[in-house]
Amino acid sequence: MRSPADGLEPMLEADLDAVVELERGIFRHPWNRRAFERELGGHPLSRSWVVRDPQAGVVAYACAWHVAGELLINNIAVAATHRRRGLGRALLARLLDDARRAGLERAVLEVRVTNAPALALYAAHGFRSIGRRRRYYSDGEDAWVLAASLSPAAAGPGAPGTDGAAS
Ligand SMILES: CC(C)(COP(=O)(O)OP(=O)(O)OC[C@H]1O[C@@H](n2cnc3c(N)ncnc32)[C@H](O)[C@@H]1OP(=O)(O)O)[C@@H](O)C(=O)NCCC(=O)NCCS
Repeated sequence: MRSPADGLEPMLEADLDAVVELERGIFRHPWNRRAFERELGGHPLSRSWVVRDPQAGVVAYACAWHVAGELLINNIAVAATHRRRGLGRALLARLLDDARRAGLERAVLEVRVTNAPALALYAAHGFRSIGRRRRYYSDGEDAWVLAASLSPAAAGPGAPGTDGAAS
């Protein structure tokens, strides 16, 4: 049986048409193609992944940076047609595992305060709120800043969720 992590591979130039199309369909203020090209263009900090489905092609992707001892998660998205199948969890787990292997200490990200699915996903992986950025997004919405420790003791399911973010 196929697992959510099957087809999870590094993002390639050849994936960009599909990734950009997904991004446009998912986000109100999508990254443009150039932004993804920069992630792939030998950027030393960048780590980008896709999930390829044998029938549908690229159905999910994630972009992150390894910088100054931290994993900065910039983007995780799953096609609306493929949600609630564990792909978001598989991508996040891959980012976190790689960061742990690289010896990074903490994962950090920003998320819209109304993004309940993403907040639930991050809470289940031990992310907690470390701050709120007022009017962070160009439409005026606030962001929670969430962080998770990458120390081995903090790994694994069952870690407590966000303090305020998921409420
Ligand atoms: C957030 C997102 C990446 C989750 O991807 P997904 O593949 O659907 O998530 P998964 O199936 O791996 O779900 C993992 C966990 O996340 C939580 N979750 C995911 N979707 C949820 C929803 N709609 N409502 C509540 N919890 C949800 C649950 O805890 C879930 O575990 P469960 O299925 O055992 O209950 C997806 O909804 C998405 O692409 N949203 C639009 C883009 C976005 O907002 N990205 C995050 C930007 S910070």
